[in-house]
Amino acid sequence: MMEIWTEKYRPKEFEDIAGQEDIIKRVSSFVKSKNMPHLMFSGPAGVGKTTLSLIVAKKLFGEEWNSNFLELNASDERGIDVVRNKVKDFARTKTMGNYPFKVIYLDECDSLTKEAQQALRRTMENYVNSCRFILSCNYSSKIIDPIQSRCAIFRFKPLEKKHIVKQVENIAKGEGLTINSDAYDAIYAVTEGDARRVANILQDCASMTKDISAETIYEKVAAARPQEVNKILTIAVSGDFIKSRDMLLDMMLRYGLSGLDVIKQIHKEIWNLKIEDSKKVKLLDKCGEIEFRMVEGSDEFLQLEALLANFTI
Ligand SMILES: Nc1ncnc2c1ncn2[C@@H]1O[C@H](COP(=O)(O)OP(=O)(O)OP(=O)(O)O)[C@@H](O)[C@H]1O
Ligand SMILES: [Mg+2]
Repeated sequence: MMEIWTEKYRPKEFEDIAGQEDIIKRVSSFVKSKNMPHLMFSGPAGVGKTTLSLIVAKKLFGEEWNSNFLELNASDERGIDVVRNKVKDFARTKTMGNYPFKVIYLDECDSLTKEAQQALRRTMENYVNSCRFILSCNYSSKIIDPIQSRCAIFRFKPLEKKHIVKQVENIAKGEGLTINSDAYDAIYAVTEGDARRVANILQDCASMTKDISAETIYEKVAAARPQEVNKILTIAVSGDFIKSRDMLLDMMLRYGLSGLDVIKQIHKEIWNLKIEDSKKVKLLDKCGEIEFRMVEGSDEFLQLEALLANFTI
């Protein structure tokens, strides 16, 4: 069976986790002292939240980690009651191997309604003697204060470019890939520091070729090169609307981009244009408006042309 690279290359030790240095330092010292409060891990996707929790469990419980660690998803469509029952069943039995507490990892806590969060808060209180929770979310601001105040909060950040480069090198070594120098920038640009996407994109590309260039990356992820988007916008700004429109259309067809993909890329590129800041602000505002119209179902090409016209005038 083909192994999934995100799992194959999931760090197994604290020191293998890229970035998040302060978090690792504090969390590993909890583990060393065999005691910890409830934890909250907040931050974007693919930056090490689940990975760190698994390491915590393995370090705390050794061989018995599996029976003392429960992973649940708060957004379980069957509702918070299912989550509470599972927690209850798990918390009721003694820890395997005489540890003072078990650990429950609850993913996607910010998808819970306020009422469900109140229920979760009571559950946390009921089982505080036998369980520690690690709550994971994208935005801690969506979590009610009484829960936040019961947790030590850790804010994970997107990985920096140097970490992504190292991760790519590591996977390339393990899988015998050749990475062209331009591919590093491309991978960082399209993943924006999400390490899970890095592993997935590389695995996807590798099924096509072992020789990975920026072009391979942009083809696979259905994204255009930022330089190409920049060129099209610059031509529009210079006054040649027709030419920029034709180039945009060609780019969309070549990469199979949707209107929304294009808006996102244009939005990112506006700051890199050589125009006045006040004009940039107006264009950003326009991007928001056009995106909204597109989401509402308006014709993609018509809306993109309208957006592009704003660069010319
Ligand atoms: N800090 C990191 N260092 C090295 N690899 C990482 C790191 N973060 C993520 N990864 C890679 O990405 C994969 C997914 O990471 P993880 O499951 O920890 O993400 P997450 O932060 O829990 O994201 P989500 O919010 O989507 O659940 C890991 O298996 C690993 O391959
Ligand atoms: Mg996760």
